[in-house]
Amino acid sequence: MVVVMVDVVGGGGWWFTMVTVAEVVCQEPPLRRPYELVLNWQELSKMLSRIAKILLVSSHPEVYEPCDDSFALADALVADRINLLQHQPSICMEIGCGSGYVITSLAVTLGHEGVFPYYIATDINPHVLRVTSATVDAHGVYAELVNTDISSGLEKRLTGLVDVMVVNPPYVPTPEDEVGCEGITSAWARGEHGRSVIDKILPAADNLLSARGWLYMVTLTANNPSEICLEMRKKGYAS
Ligand SMILES: C[S@@+](CC[C@H](N)C(=O)[O-])C[C@H]1O[C@@H](n2cnc3c(N)ncnc32)[C@H](O)[C@@H]1O
Repeated sequence: MVVVMVDVVGGGGWWFTMVTVAEVVCQEPPLRRPYELVLNWQELSKMLSRIAKILLVSSHPEVYEPCDDSFALADALVADRINLLQHQPSICMEIGCGSGYVITSLAVTLGHEGVFPYYIATDINPHVLRVTSATVDAHGVYAELVNTDISSGLEKRLTGLVDVMVVNPPYVPTPEDEVGCEGITSAWARGEHGRSVIDKILPAADNLLSARGWLYMVTLTANNPSEICLEMRKKGYAS
């Protein structure tokens, strides 16, 4: 059982200036966004063929658009693909799928290498289902989509069965009165230290992940990722 934290480092407030991937158990350096790397065309097109195509990602005014944090998570998955291929996951799950960019990128990455697990994605925002559905369809992949709070209602079916879980949660520290807002605000606003949803996701992940399950989660430094790793280590996870 492994926890991989994708740490998004903020330069000022929560406006990202640099992306680092922390503690990724991978065999090659993480990929950065194309504008941060001098890639030749061959490398660039190889990388782009492994992630969702931004022009095919659907949108809605109330749904979180793929942003630097989404790109960081998708990049971390691509960078870790050799481990993922060896892992041979049977069920992959995303919590808080938004536009569908990340789950689609995971499906494209693994599909590229001939690995076809079952994909399931949840989001609390009802608008997301149509958007993610359009995104996965446009890429010729399939994911079961569920409109629910974290993984509520799925425990009976999925306890101990999820081999890979990916999460780009709402993690931005905000005033408590923004917590509980609906629609697009729920995509980022998450109380003091930005931990109110993260702290609910961790026990849910522990319950759903298989004995060999891996969790990839985006955090800000303000979320105290080392404390999160410590908490998961106490539950028996490596990080
Ligand atoms: C930062 S956005 C990430 C969206 C997408 N995964 C990406 O990386 O572009 C967080 C997502 O989590 C969803 N979300 C917020 N609270 C949630 C909850 N309690 N259960 C499930 N999804 C939730 C939001 O609606 C939003 O789509």
